[in-house]
Amino acid sequence: MAKIQIPKGTFDILPYGAEEPWRLSETWQYVERIAREVSAEYGYREIRTPIYERTELFHRGVGETSDIVTKEMFTFEDRGGRSISLRPEGTASVARAFIENNLAQCGTVHKFFYIGPMFRYERPQSGRYRQHHQFGAEAYGISGPEQDAELIDLLLQIYKRLGIKDLQVHVNTVGDVQSRGAYKTALLDYLRPFLEQLSADSKMRFEKNPLRILDSKDPKDKEIVHGAPSILQHLSPASKDHFQKLCHLLDQAQVPYIVDDKIVRGLDYYCNTVFEVLTTHLGAQNTIGAGGRYDGLIAQFDGPDLPAIGFATGLERVMQVMQSQQLTIPVTKRPLIYFIPLGEEAREKCFLLATTCRHNHIPVDLELNAKKVPSAIQNAIRIGARYCCILGSDELTSGNASLKELSTRHEQPIRLSNLIAVLKELNSTQCASS
Ligand code: HAM
Repeated sequence: MAKIQIPKGTFDILPYGAEEPWRLSETWQYVERIAREVSAEYGYREIRTPIYERTELFHRGVGETSDIVTKEMFTFEDRGGRSISLRPEGTASVARAFIENNLAQCGTVHKFFYIGPMFRYERPQSGRYRQHHQFGAEAYGISGPEQDAELIDLLLQIYKRLGIKDLQVHVNTVGDVQSRGAYKTALLDYLRPFLEQLSADSKMRFEKNPLRILDSKDPKDKEIVHGAPSILQHLSPASKDHFQKLCHLLDQAQVPYIVDDKIVRGLDYYCNTVFEVLTTHLGAQNTIGAGGRYDGLIAQFDGPDLPAIGFATGLERVMQVMQSQQLTIPVTKRPLIYFIPLGEEAREKCFLLATTCRHNHIPVDLELNAKKVPSAIQNAIRIGARYCCILGSDELTSGNASLKELSTRHEQPIRLSNLIAVLKELNSTQCASS
C-alpha cells in the first residue's frame, strides 16, 4: 500500500530531524513565548476561539467580495446540515466571541491576543500554506490614533525582541465611509479608460470593490494603477486628522515607517488606518504582518458600536525570516544525565534513579533499548544530554560509578549514594547559568 502523505500546503513541526530550523518545535515555542510576553507587557490577554465557525461569520465579517471568502475557504456541511468553515483569519472570530460572551460588560477597553492555525485554500508556495499560523492582537474601545500607534509598536517590538532586522512598515489610510465614497468616484473615473486592459480579476473588482485593484499583483494592472489618484487627496477632515496624528505619534515614538497609498488590504472590514510590515528576506511572500482599523465590524455583528483595530503576523514567515537572518534561539532544557544500564538489575536501579531525579526537577533520560554501549551513548548525544552514567553489576556491587561529560569525555568517579545530591548541585548551577 502507498504511504499516506501529508495534505498539500501543510507541514509538520518536529522536535528534531527537520531540515530547516523554522520547522523545529523549539523555534515555535520560543517565538510564541516572546509574542505572549511582549503582548502581556502591552496589556493584551489571550483569547482562544474554535478553529471552525459558522460560514456566515466570515461572509459577513471578512466580506463577500474578498478573495478569502470567494476562493479560499475550507467550507463543508456538518452532519447536522450546517455550513461550517475552518477559520481563514482570527478577527471575525474574536469579535463573535466578544459579543457572545458579553465581554463589553467587563469594561470599556478590551485587548486580546491569539495564536493558532488559520486555513486558506491558496496555491501553496514558499511562505504560503493552506494551514498557516498567526499571532494576532485586537484592541476594542479606543478610537484615537494612540491605539493605532500602540498596536504597530507592539508588532514591531515582537519582531525586535526576536532579533529580526531590515523590516519596512508601510502605513496608509483607507479613510472613513465618506472618504472612500469620494475616492471611489475619483478612482473609477481614472480607471474607466483602462478598463479593457485590466486583468480579469480587476475587471470584476471594477464594479464591486475598485479599491482592491490598487493591490493587484498583475504587472499590467500595476502599471495602470501607478498613475491612479491617491486616497490621501480624498480624505474627510476626520480621517485626515486621524492619519496625520498617527504619523506624528509614530515619528515621536521613533517608529520608522513609509506612507504607502497603494495599501488597501484584502479584507473588507477596514476603515482609516491600514498597515503592512514587509521583509526583503522572503521572496514573493514578503508581508510578514499586517492589520488595520475596523470600527464598524462589531456593530455589524449586532454587538456594541465599539471602535477596533488589530494585526496578525504569519508565524511561518516570522520564523523563516529568523532562519534567513541566522538568528539563534535559546536552547530549552536538555537532560542533565543519561543513565545507561547493563543488565536487568541495573535497569531497575537506573529507572529508580531517573524517577528520583525527575521528582526533584532534574531533567534526565535513560536507555531502555540499546543492546550496546556505543549506540546508547549515541542516543545520549542525540538528545543533548550533558553527562552519562553507565551502570552494570560491578557498579551496583561496589557502589562506585563514573559521571562522564559527553562533550569533553572527561570522567569523574562518583559514589552512587551521592549521585542524586551531586546531580541536584549540577542542575542548580546549570539552571543559574542558562
Ligand atoms: P492577513 O493580511 O490576511 O490579515 O494575514 C495576516 C498575516 O498572516 C499575513 O501578513 C501573513 O504574514 C500571514 N498569512 C496570511 N496568509 C498566509 C498563508 N496562506 N500562508 C502563510 N502565511 C499567511 C488578517 O488575517 C487579519 N485578520 C489581520 C488583522 C487582525 N486585521 C485586524 N486585526
